[in-house]
Amino acid sequence: MNKRIAIFTDDPGWHGARLKQAFAQQGCSSEFVSLQSCGFAIDNDRYGISIPGFESLPDGVFVRGVPGGTLEQVVLYLDILHALKHLGICVYNDGRAIERSVDKGMTSFLLNNAGVPTPATWVLEDQHQLSKIMLSEFEAGNELVFKPLFGSQGNGLLKISNFDDLPEREDYNGVFYLQRYIDTGSEDVSDWRVFVIHGKAVAAMLRRGQGWISNVAQGARCHAAVLDQELKVLAETAAGALGMNYAGVDILRDGKHQPYVLEVNSIPAWKGLQQVTPVDVAELLVEDFLGCCSDDSYTEVVS
Ligand SMILES: Nc1ncnc2c1ncn2[C@@H]1O[C@H](COP(=O)(O)OP(=O)(O)O)[C@@H](O)[C@H]1O
Ligand SMILES: [Mg+2]
Repeated sequence: MNKRIAIFTDDPGWHGARLKQAFAQQGCSSEFVSLQSCGFAIDNDRYGISIPGFESLPDGVFVRGVPGGTLEQVVLYLDILHALKHLGICVYNDGRAIERSVDKGMTSFLLNNAGVPTPATWVLEDQHQLSKIMLSEFEAGNELVFKPLFGSQGNGLLKISNFDDLPEREDYNGVFYLQRYIDTGSEDVSDWRVFVIHGKAVAAMLRRGQGWISNVAQGARCHAAVLDQELKVLAETAAGALGMNYAGVDILRDGKHQPYVLEVNSIPAWKGLQQVTPVDVAELLVEDFLGCCSDDSYTEVVS
């Protein structure tokens, strides 16, 4: 089908190589492009977007990385994604899905709003309100987890059970995101990572870390897992609530087997997952992506 694809990334690595290979197998060419090298160029060109390596617009863009930066820089990167979508190009995942999921507060809000069980969560600036929440949670015997609002890969997480361990607001860029800790009721803590493509849970694994943080980036081990219907539906609903073409959904079960969706990742890794699942994740992604690029009947995944 000979399409020209831009893969937005600053660090192609294993995932970039797998995608490139899967695109080539479908007869498509793909180029790695950093969003840092893109911009608006509004000088009589009708499209007004410059993407190095692409004289004309690509047939689709696969987003594998949005760099951090100043507010202005990040807004520009997201603007490029929004603008491409505005021009009718398939942006996978699109800027809106990425914005919603990078922001843990918005993710929690949307999950809860879609009826997806997620732990009790508060996002706030005010220290006085924070004290009141902590007091009532500690009195009820709960522990609390603080997370960086835009964090990922298990970085910057802090679990506390008393006021002495309260972090500084500056450590969290002025906004506290705190969540009730979900006790799995087992010494051997693990959670599920479910990979959803176009509304279907296609692969899953159990992640087991050293402590309570089960990210592969923090050294957790990946184990093959068969999803039951409940978790499958939950993961698919969660991905839909965030409007994602593809997603990595983190799910935890408490001691009473009640599941909670912790977060929905819009640029999920699948290297660990690929080692324990029989499906070829890159092939499935490319197949769905090309459907999005070429088919007017490709259904939007936004719920
Ligand atoms: N509320 C919670 N209760 C219990 N464990 C949690 C909770 N929140 C996070 N964790 C653990 O920490 C990991 C990382 O949290 P997550 O919200 O997915 O952030 P990140 O974006 O850093 O992956 C989870 O996969 C889980 O193992
Ligand atoms: Mg996570």
